[in-house]
Amino acid sequence: MREKVVSGIRPTGKLHLGNYFGAFKNFIKLQDQFDCYFFIADYHSLTTHPTPGDLKGSVKRVLAEYIALGLDPEKCTVYFQSDVPETAELYLFLNMNAYMGELERVTSFKEKARTQPDNINAGLLTYPVLMAADILLHKAIKVPVGKDQEQHLEMARTFANRFNRLYNNEFFPEPQAFNFNTQLVKVPGLTGGGKMSKSAGESDTIFLDEPATSLNKKIMRAVSDSGPTEPGADKSQAVQNLFDLMSLVCTPETIGFFDTEHKNGSIRYGDLKKQLAADMETFIAPMRDKIESTLANEKMLQEIAHLGAAKARKSAQETMAQVREIIGFSKFYM
Ligand code: TYM
Repeated sequence: MREKVVSGIRPTGKLHLGNYFGAFKNFIKLQDQFDCYFFIADYHSLTTHPTPGDLKGSVKRVLAEYIALGLDPEKCTVYFQSDVPETAELYLFLNMNAYMGELERVTSFKEKARTQPDNINAGLLTYPVLMAADILLHKAIKVPVGKDQEQHLEMARTFANRFNRLYNNEFFPEPQAFNFNTQLVKVPGLTGGGKMSKSAGESDTIFLDEPATSLNKKIMRAVSDSGPTEPGADKSQAVQNLFDLMSLVCTPETIGFFDTEHKNGSIRYGDLKKQLAADMETFIAPMRDKIESTLANEKMLQEIAHLGAAKARKSAQETMAQVREIIGFSKFYM
């Protein structure tokens, strides 16, 4: 039996470069080798209270992006999390053995509690439990995600092991964050801060269908140093971010050239950004067209969603029948 792989992306807007290089690029590679389940995490997106209209639009869009950018529904299972209600059942069971203290210590929860003090809901607190349910539902071993998800994977292992210990068995395997034997990726944003993220604002993020004009504008406005520094000086965080973005789309020669210019103290950031914008446009242009045409093919997307839901539910139902049995829900009247 092929190893199971699970991963998902929240439909909180369009996919961006961080999603692509942190996670999606590996989805494409993995679908040829493993039994893959890639979903759209619509339950998870409810922590930020989208309107019904926004949610409907976003889920369709992310499905179109999954397909346009290379997921093949014949090779892997592509589905909406909410089409598999067994997810919610496993989440409930796992919640009974997830503790307040450990959930409150999760970095992403603390960060969200700080940035959205008016909406610290229980869904945010138990976000890692729902994520563990997504993964364990298919007994996945590999979970392709970006660096920011490392701690959530650690929690998924904790919940899997706790379940196994409690019921004295080896039912759930231990899932691992996965990136083909290399470090997990963190794509920086354009505004000089941490990782690229939608919540950091439009100007921080490059979408996979970013129009050419705004792409150019965003990169030319990206934070850098005001001018060349002393020869041999270390790169500032903002400059390092630009080099990190170059490493995604520019040739080694281009990167080498600007690296040497930086070392010599003669770098011109305007030139670097111009080159980065041109190479980024070459990378994004074909994606932009493909996403647009896939989005227009509603019938195909509907068929893919139906097929994926059926395949994912089959796998989920197998697991849940066993989980109920293990917990003791195989009732006397059955
Ligand atoms: P989300 O939507 O925040 O992110 C989806 C994926 O994109 C990666 N990512 C990044 N990687 C590198 N650099 C960035 N700047 C960057 N921004 C986003 C994330 O690491 C993630 O892999 N909680 C998950 C969704 C989820 C999930 C799961 C994933 C729900 N259940 C089960 C795996 C398994 C998330 O962060 O979504």
